[in-house]
Amino acid sequence: LARNEEARREDISGTDEWTNITPTIERLTNRKLLSNPAHPLTTLRDIIFSKFPEQEYTRANFLNPRVSVYENFDSLNITPDHVSRSKTDTYYLNKHKVLRTHTSAHQVESFRVYPTPGFLIAADVYRRDEIDRSHYPAFHQMEGGRWWSPEGTTSVKELVAKIDADTAKIPTSGIQIVDDTLPFHAGNPKQDRQPPEVCIAVTNHLKRTLEMVVGEIFQDIGKGDPSATKEPLQIRWIDATFPFTSPSWEMEVYWQGEWLELFGCGVTQQRVFDQAGHPERVGWAFGVGIERVAMVLFGIPDIRLFWSEDPRFLEQFAPGVVNTFKQFSRYPGTSRDFAFWLKDGTSPDQFHDNDLMDIVREVAGDLVENVSLIDKFTHPKTKRNSLCYRVLFQSMERTLNNDEINVLQDNIRESLKIKFAVELR
Ligand code: PHE
Repeated sequence: LARNEEARREDISGTDEWTNITPTIERLTNRKLLSNPAHPLTTLRDIIFSKFPEQEYTRANFLNPRVSVYENFDSLNITPDHVSRSKTDTYYLNKHKVLRTHTSAHQVESFRVYPTPGFLIAADVYRRDEIDRSHYPAFHQMEGGRWWSPEGTTSVKELVAKIDADTAKIPTSGIQIVDDTLPFHAGNPKQDRQPPEVCIAVTNHLKRTLEMVVGEIFQDIGKGDPSATKEPLQIRWIDATFPFTSPSWEMEVYWQGEWLELFGCGVTQQRVFDQAGHPERVGWAFGVGIERVAMVLFGIPDIRLFWSEDPRFLEQFAPGVVNTFKQFSRYPGTSRDFAFWLKDGTSPDQFHDNDLMDIVREVAGDLVENVSLIDKFTHPKTKRNSLCYRVLFQSMERTLNNDEINVLQDNIRESLKIKFAVELR
């Protein structure tokens, strides 16, 4: 199935009524931040990679972000009606191709082809999203997977022993688990095709692996920070749901007074192994967004800085070194409001925030620091709906002058009129 799909995907190009990728996003796909060895995201990737034995986990970098709808969704058991597939959330090149929204898009292929039982992927991913200090339409994720085959074993007990032997090899973490979850339960079930002991063995390997990774990353880095507490690192496990794992969890780590959501993970759905052509295997997968981790580790206050080409940003970092970013002067920002009536008969829900975000981004790019909906009302007599958004313009490189902001404002207003037939107020 996967192979047919791949063959078919070769012929699929061109645009159609699904196309919503914009030139700005297209440009981001060519940036390849992880090819700069001094970039903080590259350093973090390499630190995470280094915690996994090389002979056990194949590393994959620079996989093409343009993937089929099958790879990004169907192969992972994500049903056709799932919200994440909607045009308001995902960048479509056309009906059959998207910019991957997560590195999980490569799971089936990775479980299928690599000679090692494990794999690690680092890559850029794309989601239509709001604009603020911690959201950007492109970001980076890492994915890991690990499988075992019952080949060579004659019983469930032997398979479990094989998995447990691998778990025993994982260095212990020294962290404190303040909240754990049951191995599985009705709300977070094991799969029918798996004996309970196998599900538990895979779970243990997964949890111990990720605990070792966060323990090493956060504790090592904490050691260099004189203000860091001497207490052990605290983490907690929380039940979660993903269509491609069951049971599923999220791990959160307590860092500088806040619970930081890290890995999404779980026991890989047998359906995923079916797609990979290895239905007999069992295993796990995890995914992690690395910008938010890099922001805390390097003290980077704004996610847009990762995309900065300003030497005052890039020159602060060296390959393999975790140091605290020193903010260079911030230039003053200016906000402008955009108020408009929606077309008659259009409800505010039919105008999606992300529609405005893409217009703003297309016109003003990284000169936009924040966009927020500040007012929404229905006229009592005419029943027409009005929305008002506030856009904060700010450059990380210079002070913007009024004339250029006026031009941006005019262009945004023009685009709104053309694309959404709104009446500006
Ligand atoms: N792909 C999921 C996400 O983007 C994370 C995940 C990966 C969860 C692998 C489970 C297994 O949030």
